[in-house]
Amino acid sequence: MNLMKKATILVVDDESGIRQSFNMILKEDYHIVIASSGSEALDCFKSHAVDLVLLDILLPDIGGLDLLEKFKEIDPTVEIIMVTAVKEVPIAVKAIKLGAYEYIMKPFTVDDILAVIQRALEKRSMTQEIAYLKTELERVLPFEMMVGEDPKMKKVFDFISTISQSDGTVLIQGESGTGKELVARALHNRSHRKGGPFVVVNCAAIPLTLMESEVFGYNKGAFTGALSTRIGKLEMANKGTAFLDDIDSLDLKMQAKLLRIIQEREFERLGSNKVIKVDVRFIAASNKNLSELVENGEFRDDLFYRINVFPVNIPPLRDRKSDIPLLLEHFVDLHAKQTGKSKIRFSEEAVKTLMNYDWPGNVRELQNLAERLVTITKDPLIHAKALPPLTGSLKTGIKDLPLKDAVDAFEKHYIAEVLEDVGGNKTKAAEKLGIHRNTLLAKTHAKEPS
Ligand SMILES: Nc1ncnc2c1ncn2[C@@H]1O[C@H](COP(=O)(O)OP(=O)(O)OP(=O)(O)O)[C@@H](O)[C@H]1O
Ligand SMILES: [Mg+2]
Repeated sequence: MNLMKKATILVVDDESGIRQSFNMILKEDYHIVIASSGSEALDCFKSHAVDLVLLDILLPDIGGLDLLEKFKEIDPTVEIIMVTAVKEVPIAVKAIKLGAYEYIMKPFTVDDILAVIQRALEKRSMTQEIAYLKTELERVLPFEMMVGEDPKMKKVFDFISTISQSDGTVLIQGESGTGKELVARALHNRSHRKGGPFVVVNCAAIPLTLMESEVFGYNKGAFTGALSTRIGKLEMANKGTAFLDDIDSLDLKMQAKLLRIIQEREFERLGSNKVIKVDVRFIAASNKNLSELVENGEFRDDLFYRINVFPVNIPPLRDRKSDIPLLLEHFVDLHAKQTGKSKIRFSEEAVKTLMNYDWPGNVRELQNLAERLVTITKDPLIHAKALPPLTGSLKTGIKDLPLKDAVDAFEKHYIAEVLEDVGGNKTKAAEKLGIHRNTLLAKTHAKEPS
C-alpha cells in the first residue's frame, strides 16, 4: 500500500456535534467523508474507496449492526470502529463477531480515538499486503514450485490448467523423478477441492497383503489384530483427491476392486457391510508404460480406460534440456535459502557439461546434485572440473559398458559418494577408502570431466 496516500475515513453519526468533532480531529491526517444517516452512509461507501468507518450504533434509519454487515459484505477488508453512547455488552459482542475492529464509548479522548484508528489502519494495510503477496506468489510460482519454460512443459502446464477444475480421473505417466507427484499436487491445489485433503496411496510401498486394509479401512474385529476400527485412505480423501501412486504395482484383484470404486464412488470397510459413499477425485501415476502392461495382461484394460480420462505425459529431462539451467538455478537458490548457505553459480562450461548429460534420474537427480553442490562447495562459481562425476544411477550408467569401463565408472561413482559423505574432505575420504590421499587426488583429477 502506498504509505503517502491519505487513508479515507467514513464518519457515520446522526449527531452533528459528533460529526464535526471527528472532522476537526481527523481532517489533518485523513481524507474524511461524512454521513448523517444509514442510507447516506451506504451511498458514500459505494462511491468512495473507504478504508475505515467510524460507525454510530443508533441511527435513525438503518441499525448500526445491519450497516456493519452490509459494509463487510461489500468490502470484507474494511475496518469498522463502532461508536456508541450506551454500553451494551451483547451488542458489543455481536459487533465484534460481525467483524468490527473495536467498540468504543462516548465520550472518548482524542488520543484514544487516534490510537484506535491508527491500529485499525495498520491492520488493514497488513491484510492488503498479505493479499497482494498471495497473488504475487501465484504469479511467480503459477504451478506450485514447478519450473519449466520448454514448450513441452508449457503444454503440460496448459493441460493441467484446463483439467484442474474437472473431477475426471487423471493418469500421469513419466519416468521416475520427472515430477509426477508435483503435478498431482498442482492439480489438487488448483481444483475446487483445494481446501480438502490430498491423500497419497503409495501402491508400490504398501505390501499387497495390507493394501485392502490401508485403502478401505476396517472395523474392529475384522481380522486378527484389528483391535480397533480404522478408516482407510479412501475415507480420508473424502472431499479431496486420492493420489494412486505407482498404480501399476496393484495386483489384478485389487485392480478390480479399485475399478468398482472409481465407477461407483462407494465401498465397504473390511468386516462391515455398510456402504460408504465418498466424494473423491482420483489421480493415478505410473513410471511404466501402462498400455504395454495392458497388452501383456498385467493391467486390466477396463481400469486403464477408466483412469486414462485425462492423460498427462511428463517428458524425461533429456527431452527438455533447455530447462536444465532453470532447474539448476531454482534448486541451488532454494537449497541455499533453506540452509542459510551462500548462493552458487555455474560457469558456462559447467552448464554445458550438465546439459550434455542425460539425467537418467530426471529432475530428482538434478535436484540432488544441486543440493550436494550447495553443501560441499566453497567457491561460489562452480567450474566444470568441480562437478562430481555424472554417472546417474549406477545401474543405468554402467549397464552396457565393457568390464573395464564399468569398473572405472563404478570407482568414479563410489569415490564421489564417499567424498559426499565426508563433505568433500579428501583426507577423510582417502582414509575411508583405505587408499593414500595422493592416490585419491590422482584418481579424482584423472576423472574430472574435460
Ligand atoms: N518442473 C519441476 N520444477 C521444480 N521441481 C521439480 C520439477 N519436477 C520435479 N521436481 C522436483 O523433483 C523431485 C521429484 O519429483 P516427483 O517426486 O514429483 O517425481 P515423480 O515423477 O513422482 O518420481 P517417482 O516416479 O520416482 O515417484 C521432487 O522433489 C520435485 O519437487
Ligand atoms: Mg512419485
